[in-house]
Formats: sequence, structure tokens, C-alpha cells
Amino acid sequence: MTLRSWITPFLFFSNNVVSLTGVVLVTIATVTWLLFLPVTLRGGITHPYFGIIVYLLLPCIFGLGLVMIPLGIYWRRRKQRISQTLLGDFPLDLRNPNLRRLTMFVLVTTFVNIVIASQFTYSAIDYMDSVSFCGQTCHTVMQPEFTAYQVSPHARVECVSCHIGAGASWFLRSKITGVGQVFAVMLHNYPKPIPTPVRNLRPAKETCETCHWSQHFADDRLVDIPTYAEDEQNTLTHTVLLLHVGGGQSRLGIHGRHLGEGVRVRYYPSDDRRQNIPWVEYTAAGETSVFVTAGTPQPDPSKVRVMDCMDCHNRPTHVFQSPERALDQGFVAGQISSTLPFAKKWALEVLKKNYSSQSEAARNIPAVFESYYQNNYPKLYEQSHKDVLRAAEQILAIYKRNVFPQMNITWGTYPNNIGHTEFTGCFRCHDEQHARNDGKTITQDCTACHSMVAVDEKQPKILTDLGVEQGKQP
Ligand code: HEC
Ligand code: HEC
Ligand code: HEC
Ligand code: HEC
Ligand code: HEC
Repeated sequence: MTLRSWITPFLFFSNNVVSLTGVVLVTIATVTWLLFLPVTLRGGITHPYFGIIVYLLLPCIFGLGLVMIPLGIYWRRRKQRISQTLLGDFPLDLRNPNLRRLTMFVLVTTFVNIVIASQFTYSAIDYMDSVSFCGQTCHTVMQPEFTAYQVSPHARVECVSCHIGAGASWFLRSKITGVGQVFAVMLHNYPKPIPTPVRNLRPAKETCETCHWSQHFADDRLVDIPTYAEDEQNTLTHTVLLLHVGGGQSRLGIHGRHLGEGVRVRYYPSDDRRQNIPWVEYTAAGETSVFVTAGTPQPDPSKVRVMDCMDCHNRPTHVFQSPERALDQGFVAGQISSTLPFAKKWALEVLKKNYSSQSEAARNIPAVFESYYQNNYPKLYEQSHKDVLRAAEQILAIYKRNVFPQMNITWGTYPNNIGHTEFTGCFRCHDEQHARNDGKTITQDCTACHSMVAVDEKQPKILTDLGVEQGKQP
């Protein structure tokens, strides 16, 4: 039994162009795969294009090759059968040692192929679920979400944990719609910006609540909102709120009142973005009441939505800021010096201008900001031009985190439903306009959701008492 006699039957049948091409493809894929194996086993491939080649293209080549080998053999056999040359050369009988060897050969190679192919499939699926695939492969489309995500509280949560969730049927569904999305990106045929709310997002119960237990919610939460004025001194004031976040089971506080035991809120949005809500149904302890704005007819039942986490936390991770809030944070962090006269005012001015692309912004924002100080405060510019430079860089960074002209995303494109000062948010329902039969309205009482501990104060007592000195730059 020499190696040659083992391989003979295989060579005999596969000696045709199709099968030989197949063999070449399988070999190329296998060798390349072996070369990358040390890196892939360490999970080291995060570069999106490299990932596409190793995890998506190689398995395709491998699979194509595998299919071509038997196909070629089949065609060759058929040809031979037609020309009546087959049976004489190679009787199909297990007593034929050649056939036995062929069978063994096929069994062994199939086993090896299954091992390789399963590794391929596993890493391909794993890769398609990875943050770098979701966030970076389709760079233009996902760049805004990926950028915001990287500085969010969920920066270590994979995209798929919120967008797909566990379970085979959602996995399949996402892969099927995913194919359409890949084509849309290749053909540049996608909406800019991507419209929200995302319709096929899985219910919060199966995503958010795999990590956040809805029965265990927070106590009151003290929130300090530092604001820098647009005056020469960039005067700092604080608004301090005690937010009544509340607990799920207790039916108290913000969470409890909408999601507590036995509580259900259903609503009808009259626009696609769910920003106008004329009809709200509230069920608690078995009692149901309906709050409507004047003149609202009975809504179409198929458009009524049960409220969940996403109706308030629609931006848990893709948090696009307002320029004012982003600058305040820059001041607090000491990245923008509050000693620069009118820093906030000028920063806002350059940030709110229209730029055709991020690179145009990069050419203009720092230069224009610096020129304010060069022209108006030449002496200060000389002394602290490092501060000016650093501030200019940070202002550009703020722009790049929040405005994406190539996707038509600018300040305020995506509303954030938490709060009520920058967008309608809670006041979509809590506006005193939604009334029950008996005249009771959904409250806008300022103390229902938060106690206002301090409003625009320079040195709120509560912060001094607590020893908090936020916003004071060293
Ligand atoms: C903590 C959960 C969470 C994670 C993690 C997450 N997303 Fe989202 N994402 C959401 C929610 C919720 C929405 C829906 C916003 C809406 O409907 O208003 C959304 C919306 C989007 C949208 C639609 C456009 C927009 O800005 O609303 C895109 C695109 C997107 N996500 C991409 C990604 C990518 C890429 C990643 C990983 C880098 C990711 N997401 C990670 C929760 C998440
Ligand atoms: C895989 C786990 C995971 C999933 C899924 C998840 N979260 Fe979170 N979430 C976290 C962790 C961990 C933190 C705490 C991060 C920190 O404190 O730095 C957090 C923090 C938060 C916070 C507080 C943020 C802050 O500013 O303090 C909110 C609100 C939140 N998540 C809402 C959501 C919503 C809404 C969803 C569903 C769309 C969701 N989360 C899905 C793990 C998760
Ligand atoms: C009615 C609106 C609303 C709904 C519905 C809602 N939340 Fe919240 N949630 C808030 C507000 C308001 C806060 C506090 C403000 C903030 O953190 O910015 C908050 C805070 C949180 C926090 C941070 C708690 C802390 O101590 O910092 C987490 C985590 C959270 N929510 C998760 C969820 C999850 C998960 C769901 C769905 C089961 C949910 N929320 C539903 C309004 C809501
Ligand atoms: C879809 C409509 C809707 C939205 C959006 C909404 N709520 Fe409510 N909320 C209700 C309804 C309905 C009630 C119960 C009213 C009643 O029974 O008087 C309620 C009750 C409350 C209560 C209890 C008030 C009281 O007097 O006891 C709080 C607190 C509250 N909501 C906070 C919030 C916050 C914070 C937000 C935004 C993050 C928000 N709600 C967004 C519909 C909504
Ligand atoms: C339905 C609940 C609710 C009601 C009613 C309500 N607020 Fe608020 N308010 C919120 C939430 C939620 C936030 C966001 C806190 C955060 O940013 O985390 C907020 C934030 C604020 C802020 C800080 C805004 C900022 O700069 O970010 C101010 C000021 C404020 N509220 C004032 C008021 C006043 C005045 C009233 C009475 C007319 C009122 N609120 C009624 C829920 C409510």
C-alpha cells in the first residue's frame, strides 16, 4: 500500500479542470488559514478589512473549492458513463480495492474539512458580531454611532448585545437584514442620517434587562449640572437636582411610575420619530385611564406602543451632545481654560458654523478660534498661547464627536428623550395638556421628577456641604 495507490482513485476522478481548480482553492485557503491561525486563536484580528479577508473571504474560497471538487468528479463520471468507458475502468463495487481506498480517502478528508470549516464558521460568526465589524467596516455609515459609543458608559458592551441579543431566531433575522444592509452600503443606497427610532430593535426586556435588573433600581440621584456663561469670565454656575429615579417594584419614582409592578404605559405617537404623543394609556393596580390632548381621535391599535426603557433612554450609548453641554464638560475637565476671555462664546460661534466635512472643520475651527485671541488679545495670546492651542484642539474634538456632515448629522439631529431642556423628552407627555375624562392631567410639577436643590447658583450650599468642588480649575 503505497501513498500513490491510495491517491490513485482520487487522482483518477479528479483529473479534470473543475476539480483541480477546486483543489487549488482549498489548498490556498487552508494554507492562508494556517498562516493566520496563531493570530486568530489569540483573537488578535481587529482591523476591519483584514477581518473581512480572514473571516469572510477565506471561508468562501474554501467552501467554493470544496464544492468544485465533487462537482468536477461528477461531471467527469457522467461523461465517461455516456461514453461507456467507466465501468470497465472502475467498477463500483466494494470488493474493488480502488473504490475502498477512495471511500476511505473521502471519509478522512471530509473529517479534516469539517474541522477546518467549523473553525471558519465559528470565527466568521464571532467576527460579524464584533465591535470592529459593526462599527468600523462600513466606516462612513457607522462612524457617528461608533464614535459616540466609544466614549459612552457602554463602551465595553458589544454592539450585538443591544442590537441583536441572544437566541437563534434574532441572530438569523439580523443576518438576513444584514445582507440587505451590506448591499445598501455597497451601492451607497442608504438614508443619511439613519432614521430613528430603530424599528426592528429587540424589546428592551431581552437586551437592556439582561444586564440591568428592572426590579432593582436606583435611589434618588444627586445631579450637578455645571454651566459656563457666555460672558468674559465664562462665569460658572451650578444647577443641582435630586432626581427621583426610583425602584421597579415600589411603583415609586421615575422608573416605578412607568415600569413598576403592575404598571403599564401605552402610547400612540402621531409622527415617525415618536416626538408627538397625543394619546397615553396608564394602567396601575388594575385601573386603566386614558390621557389625551384635545381633539385626539381613538388611535390605530397597530400603532400603539408599550413604553419601555428605550422610550426614555433612546440614547444610552450613541450620546450626541449639544455644543453648550460639551463645552461645559470641556471646561470642567480643564481641557478648555476658563481664564480665556469669552472662550465659551467664541467656541460656540465656531462650533455652530456650517462645514462641508470634518476635514474642512479641522482646517477652520482651530485657526479661527486662535485668531480671535491673536487679534483681540495679542498680549494674552503671547503669554498663554499654549492654553489657546489646547482649547482649540478640544473644540475641534467636540465637533468631531458630534457632527458628521457626510451622514447629515449635525447638532440636535437625534433627539434625546431623557430630560426636557434640550428636547421635548419627558414633556412629550408631561405637558399638562394630556387630560383624563375627569380633567386630571399628566403632571409637569417641577418637583414630581426632581427636587430642585439649586438653580443657577454660583456656590450652592449643598455642594459646599458635600465637599464637591466640580468645575474649579486648578
Ligand atoms: C447599550 C446598548 C447599545 C449598544 C452597545 C449599541 N447600540 Fe446602537 N443603538 C442603541 C439604541 C437603543 C438605539 C436606538 C435609538 C433610537 O431608536 O432612537 C441605537 C441606534 C443605533 C443606530 C441608528 C442611528 C442612531 O444613531 O440612532 C446605529 C447605526 C447603531 N445604533 C449602531 C451601533 C453600533 C455600530 C454599535 C457598536 C459600535 C452600537 N450601535 C452599540 C443601543 C445600543
Ligand atoms: C452587556 C450589559 C449591558 C447591556 C446589554 C446594557 N447595559 Fe446599560 N450599563 C451596563 C454597565 C456595565 C453600565 C455601567 C457603566 C459605568 O458605570 O461605567 C451601564 C450603565 C447604564 C446607564 C447609566 C449611565 C450613566 O450615565 O450612568 C443607563 C441609563 C443604562 N446603562 C441603560 C441601558 C439601556 C437603556 C440598555 C438597553 C438599550 C442597556 N443599558 C443595556 C451594562 C449594560
Ligand atoms: C420614564 C422614563 C424612563 C424609563 C421608561 C426608564 N428609565 Fe432609566 N432613568 C430615567 C431617568 C430620568 C434616569 C436618571 C437620569 C439620568 O441618569 O440621566 C434614569 C436612570 C437609569 C439608570 C442609572 C441609575 C443610576 O443610579 O444612575 C439606569 C441603569 C437605568 N435608568 C436603566 C433603565 C432600564 C434598564 C430601563 C428599562 C427597564 C429604564 N431605565 C427605563 C428614566 C427612565
Ligand atoms: C408616553 C408618555 C410619558 C412619557 C414620555 C413620560 N411619562 Fe412620566 N408618566 C406618564 C403617565 C401617564 C404618568 C401617570 C400620570 C398619573 O397617573 O397622573 C406618569 C407619571 C410620572 C411620574 C409620577 C408623577 C406623580 O405625580 O406621581 C413621574 C415622576 C414621571 N412620570 C417621570 C417621567 C420622566 C422623568 C420622564 C422622562 C424621562 C417621563 N415621565 C416621561 C407618561 C409619560
Ligand atoms: C416628568 C418629569 C420632570 C418634570 C415634571 C420636570 N422635570 Fe426638569 N428634568 C427632568 C429630567 C429627567 C431631567 C434631566 C436630568 C439629567 O440631565 O440627567 C431634568 C432636568 C432639568 C434641569 C436641568 C437642565 C439642564 O440644564 O440639563 C432643569 C433646570 C429642570 N429640569 C427644571 C425643571 C423645571 C423648572 C420644571 C417645572 C416646570 C421641571 N424641570 C419639571 C424631569 C422633569
